[in-house]
Amino acid sequence: MTQKIPKLLVKRTSIHGQWSSRWAFILAATGSAVGLGNIWRFPYLTGENGGGAFVLIYLFFVLVVGLPIMMAEIMLGRRGRQSPINTMKTLAEEEGLSHYWQLLGWMGVAAGFIILSYYSVIAGWTLAYIFRTGLGMFVDADAELSTRLFSDLIADPEKLLAWHTTFMMMTILVVARGVKSGLEKAVKFLMPALFILLLVMVGYAMSTEKFMQGIEYLFVPDFDAIAEKNFFSDIMLPAMGQAFFSLSLGMGAIMIYGSYLAQRSSIPWTSVSIALADTSVALLAGVAIFPIVFTYGLEPAGGPGLIFVSLPIAFGQMPFGTFFGCLFFILLMFAGWTSAISLLEPAVTWLVENRSMKRIKATAIAGTIAWSLGLVTVLSFNKWAFSFSFAGQEKENGFFDIFDILTANIMLPLGGLLVAIFAAWLMSTRSTMEELGVGDTLIYRGWRFAVKYIAPVGVIIIFLNAIGIV
Ligand code: PHE
Repeated sequence: MTQKIPKLLVKRTSIHGQWSSRWAFILAATGSAVGLGNIWRFPYLTGENGGGAFVLIYLFFVLVVGLPIMMAEIMLGRRGRQSPINTMKTLAEEEGLSHYWQLLGWMGVAAGFIILSYYSVIAGWTLAYIFRTGLGMFVDADAELSTRLFSDLIADPEKLLAWHTTFMMMTILVVARGVKSGLEKAVKFLMPALFILLLVMVGYAMSTEKFMQGIEYLFVPDFDAIAEKNFFSDIMLPAMGQAFFSLSLGMGAIMIYGSYLAQRSSIPWTSVSIALADTSVALLAGVAIFPIVFTYGLEPAGGPGLIFVSLPIAFGQMPFGTFFGCLFFILLMFAGWTSAISLLEPAVTWLVENRSMKRIKATAIAGTIAWSLGLVTVLSFNKWAFSFSFAGQEKENGFFDIFDILTANIMLPLGGLLVAIFAAWLMSTRSTMEELGVGDTLIYRGWRFAVKYIAPVGVIIIFLNAIGIV
């Protein structure tokens, strides 16, 4: 991208390094975005929220709220070139605004810890399933056996703890070495491999009896199915939350990756590629899973175990299923790994900058905090389990669900809202135009309109509605 770019007034470099190319950034950010959110969270939320209508609203949010906010977050990150906390502080000073803006960075760090704490537990399930599928435990399994195997796993806090600990150690290992070294290579091969394997799964789904029912469920909104729900608070709030969660927005993950982006790279294009890859993976996962769910008589609203119950049945039936199953969970583990890394990075960079810690020590400390908090999630599936109702849906895993709802539906959209307000209402046009790197073009104006009006109004209306005001 070598269009006319206004002369730079602000030149900073990150003490944590820089991506080797724009491509490296796209890969890393895609690695952050594509993860359990697409393959585990998207299908089970779609199932809990009645299918097509939820998917449609989710796509709407990705396009009109997520994409512009992603551009804003990358832009702020690149301009500040520090941990999100210090980036917000520096930029606020530069624009003559209150230093309280750094609280946005703090909220992101808090959200990152909470998300990572339960994310690691779920990623632990994928580790367990690598071995379970690889050992052929699902050969010819029916829905009943698969459901029982899953329930047995989550009922056992010791097993969950062991896998959670393993996964957190893997995350700490990579972050401690610096996210740039291994990440680029890993994502370059593993993301396409995951994509291809999802296509194989879609191929299998096509051969099942209820393929069309699955497709209709996903893509044809059925408003009768959600007639009892409140459209705003029960469907739109979780759909918005999923858009933020899946795109890794609102907590500084994309911001910190943006801070390693070279000055010349165009932010709009990179954002479009990331959002496109992320959304395709989620939709493919949906297409692969729902036909299986219907064919084997599973409950779409089965909750967080949905893919762990449904997909292994398919692996147990298809040719080379043991191989494909094992490979699938390995790739899913990698996808989760590259996301978990980005959840930890904002906190680690802050510790390095402000506490002059070595990266290794900073990562060990931050990782241990997230790991400890994860113990609550481990217990929320067994010893501490309790249920409550949210968005017209019975949630059965107490603290895990609370953490998930609090972060995805509240903290991330709130973070995104503040990013939008900061970037479009408070920063000078000159600064944003300079940083986005596309000049005063239609793209710039469209972006500015979206972050200035559409995104904030969308988030605010849904928030107000959810608490019963609008
Ligand atoms: N986007 C990741 C996923 O879909 C999760 C994530 C959320 C990562 C927020 C970073 C920040 O799995």
